[in-house]
Amino acid sequence: MFSTTKLFIAFFMLIFCSVFSVAHADQALANAKGCMACHQIDAKKIGPPFRTVAKQYQGQKDALEKLSNKVLDGGSGVWGQVAMPANRTLGVTKADATKLVAWVLSLK
Ligand code: HEC
Repeated sequence: MFSTTKLFIAFFMLIFCSVFSVAHADQALANAKGCMACHQIDAKKIGPPFRTVAKQYQGQKDALEKLSNKVLDGGSGVWGQVAMPANRTLGVTKADATKLVAWVLSLK
């Protein structure tokens, strides 16, 4: 017999697992596309930590569009003198960039 509590727990487990696997899938994409060679989630590597990027652009409506173009075209000067290369020359598509930046921005 299923009590309401058990159903509730089962429901939350389901939500938790699906949210977790989505986050995981996008980190896998970031690994596959080479982002994690220069970025980490919580610490500075060559580029800024992704969680710090998320905080920086929190609440900015155009951040997704702006940052996915930056990922594609590369650039420097926002976080320091070191430039990010144009990832479009490394096999990253616009769809990849949008997906990756959406993931980065979700990391608050
Ligand atoms: C060769 C190293 C390198 C790789 C590979 C790299 N990045 Fe970066 N990234 C950087 C550096 C350096 C900066 C800081 C640029 C600046 O200061 O403007 C940066 C900045 C960023 C920013 C913030 C941009 C801004 O203007 O605030 C985002 C978002 C980002 N990277 C996402 C990605 C994603 C997604 C990938 C994978 C497709 C990736 N990066 C691959 C080095 C890299």
